[in-house]
Amino acid sequence: MSQNPSPAIEEGSIYDLSIPGRRASTVPTPDAGVPTAADVLPGGMLRSESPHLPEVSELDLVRHFTNLSRKNWSIEVGAYPLGSCTMKYNPKIHEQTAALPGFSRLHPWQPAEQAQGALALIWEMEQLLVEITGMARASFQPAAGAAGELTGLLVVRAYHKAQGGTPRDTVLIPDSAHGTNPATVRLAGYKVKQIPTDSRGLVDIETVRNAMDDNVAGLMLTNPNTLGLFEREIEEIAKAVHSKGGLLYYDGANLNAIVGVVRPGDMGFDVVHINMHKTFTTPHGGGGPGSGPVAVSSRLAPFLPSPIPGLDSETGRYFWEDLPQSVGRVHGFYGNFGMVVRAYTYLISLGADGLHNLSERAVLNANYLRTRLEGTYQTAHPGLCMHEFVLTARKFRKDYGIRAMDIAKRLIDKGFHPPTVYFPLVVEEAMMVEPTETESKQTLDALADAFLEIAAEAASDPDVLHEAPVRSPVGRLDEARAVRQLQTRWKPAEQQS
Ligand SMILES: Cc1ncc(COP(=O)(O)O)c(C=O)c1O
Repeated sequence: MSQNPSPAIEEGSIYDLSIPGRRASTVPTPDAGVPTAADVLPGGMLRSESPHLPEVSELDLVRHFTNLSRKNWSIEVGAYPLGSCTMKYNPKIHEQTAALPGFSRLHPWQPAEQAQGALALIWEMEQLLVEITGMARASFQPAAGAAGELTGLLVVRAYHKAQGGTPRDTVLIPDSAHGTNPATVRLAGYKVKQIPTDSRGLVDIETVRNAMDDNVAGLMLTNPNTLGLFEREIEEIAKAVHSKGGLLYYDGANLNAIVGVVRPGDMGFDVVHINMHKTFTTPHGGGGPGSGPVAVSSRLAPFLPSPIPGLDSETGRYFWEDLPQSVGRVHGFYGNFGMVVRAYTYLISLGADGLHNLSERAVLNANYLRTRLEGTYQTAHPGLCMHEFVLTARKFRKDYGIRAMDIAKRLIDKGFHPPTVYFPLVVEEAMMVEPTETESKQTLDALADAFLEIAAEAASDPDVLHEAPVRSPVGRLDEARAVRQLQTRWKPAEQQS
């Protein structure tokens, strides 16, 4: 974990560094006759007193923000085996292509005729996604995976409605699903019906058959699922859903395990969202400025967000096409275009063989790490995994009073980001580990060694784990309170309650 090298001058807010009159830069006094703000703005809009801003030198400012940034963990600092989140390295060439002036200086209002290069890239990227997923068309408007989920379900709803009946009222979700799935279902106006995971960690075909009826709009599945296991009966599941008129939704969060090897469309899925920040290594953007494109089969294509790019085969020119049955816009303009450029760069640099290799390596890395830990840690479901695996700290809790959270926090002291903990909910004391394909064998070994050292400490000195982390800028936070009472604004000490 990064340590602050000069805590004496750096702790606290930039306001604490403020010295009256100190400046990072100065603005020259305007020449005589050049109007000032006071000359041109209406009097009522002018401030009566100067804003209370920190007065610091450029060096103070640079040091403050550099030190702050060093308190953050990132993939550039070290391994980030956060299960289900696929925190893999984002190659720097993506930033260079996204910054090319022809892409970065385009204005979204520019007519299609003046943006042919950008349209060609979106069009080609769509062809790549369609090929990778086995779908017919895709939209790049959604700004994150969860936004893609909502868009996909709105498309499902619009499709059912257009069949002349009701949009149906229920969506099936396995109990191992990510929390965004049920939240999306509710937001799209559906009821959630949870189906249990069986003892293999999989969705049982008979359970799906029994749950399907004419009111069920569809089933949302992640494959491989959030336990890191491939749903082997997927073709039978798809038949059971389709036979009752339902649709099969693919949560693409785990596409990293199968991209270039199998396609959701060939498994029977009708709608797919892709978390571009995971599989295609674009920045995540915390659910905001990212990208979660939705790809759909041909019968759902008319309902995608509009407009969508078109190609005039005679002139070879691209244009924006409005879809009359569209669910409407889900984002300003055409989504976050810079993310599409980054993901396109990734796909072009890898090529088909590279994509296949990516998945194989992700699965190999996960199984290597799993094998090194098995025996000391229990896996939730024994046997081969896909790109991630779930451990349970159940026995540590029983034997030493050590919880998954203690192990996770101790990993921080050993220089690693913790795995995802307490998810999936179906596993007691869950620790979900996803090393990704971008980590080397040396890093995987170091991570395995850290896990094994922690297991030994749990037996010999459990308090070390209870007190962890001790090497990070902050210890254990009240995460629920931090979310509910988020304070992003600095206040002087006397005003803090
Ligand atoms: C299985 C699964 N589905 C959906 C999501 C939501 O994706 P996003 O964070 O891009 O909104 C995640 C995010 O981690 C996920 O792991």
